[in-house]
Amino acid sequence: MTTMAAKGPRRAVAVGIGHYLPERVVPNSEFETMMDTSDEWIRARTGIERRHFAADGETTSQLGIKAAEAALANAGLTADDIDAIVVATSTPDLTFPSVATMIQTGLKMSGGFGFDVQAVCAGFIFALSTANAYIISGQAKRVLVIGAETFSRIMDWDDRTTCVLFGDGAGALILEGQDASGTNADSGILSLDLNSDGQYRDLLFVDGGVSKTQSTGVLKMQGKEVFRHAVEKLAKTAHTALDSVGLHSDDVDWIVPHQANLRIISRTAQKMGVGMDRVIVTVQDHGNTSAASIPLALSVGVSQGKIKKGDVLVAEAIGGGLAWGSAVIRW
Ligand code: ACO
Repeated sequence: MTTMAAKGPRRAVAVGIGHYLPERVVPNSEFETMMDTSDEWIRARTGIERRHFAADGETTSQLGIKAAEAALANAGLTADDIDAIVVATSTPDLTFPSVATMIQTGLKMSGGFGFDVQAVCAGFIFALSTANAYIISGQAKRVLVIGAETFSRIMDWDDRTTCVLFGDGAGALILEGQDASGTNADSGILSLDLNSDGQYRDLLFVDGGVSKTQSTGVLKMQGKEVFRHAVEKLAKTAHTALDSVGLHSDDVDWIVPHQANLRIISRTAQKMGVGMDRVIVTVQDHGNTSAASIPLALSVGVSQGKIKKGDVLVAEAIGGGLAWGSAVIRW
């Protein structure tokens, strides 16, 4: 079912969450044997202690299917209850078709539609916004929003400044359209703020692609510059999204940040006036999983009993583009 008449105010409400991490765990110490680095350096500069890497042949869609199955089980739904799948990824199995259609088949969904969005590490925020638009317009009732990545496939293993930072994984969130009052007391997505600025493309990019090189390429990053933009832009986007619905830092129960670097996460929280006791942190265990990091952190936060029904969450992310944004969600 992909068409539905819009009625009164509606919200896209979270009804299920799940994640999947590949079996192989790679501790920092493994990099010590491959290059001139140390567990101490990686922990001190990034907060990362370990990350998961997909097995040979294990693809982004396979991670996404497992995360989606976990989210469906969490919601008590089946794949046929879903109208649409939106996947945020920059590491698709193939150039096309979309990872979303592969996940659709993997879930044995008999109808609906699926497609991918690409906004690198901010991808999940853009996917949320897309799903939210379908739901509030009445075009879909339930949307599976997935962040799934295999960044280990685009690492330059000779570049110690980037290859220690990233990991693989997938997280999935099910949003359902529900009648609402239209106030900030509603459950669901309350506001979104999206931004991009292409003049910063050289700060973070992959040096290969279909049209330019006919190859996959590897990730290149000017870490210090990305760090500077992240600290400047993330608190700002979060405040913009909160202000737009009359909420303040004091109202925030949990910041659920993109998990790139503990120092970026804590500086952003500090700028927002939110203590680290109200921030979901998974970067130590997952590394930077790009578009998967926010749904992974949401899933871990819920399973640990931290995020509870009625809590106000702010999710924020920045990545290649640069593209950045935030979402305010009442769980
Ligand atoms: N092990 C040991 N030493 C290292 C390593 C490493 N893995 N990597 C770099 N170094 C060295 C550098 O060579 C440099 O040595 P030098 O002083 O002799 O030249 C020294 O450590 C300091 O390097 P810097 O680059 O100045 O280190 P910095 O404190 O900036 O930390 C880091 C680097 C962690 C990459 C940081 O800049 C950062 O986190 N930036 C943000 C990157 C990020 O989060 N990107 C993702 C956001 S967007 C997205 O998610 C796609």
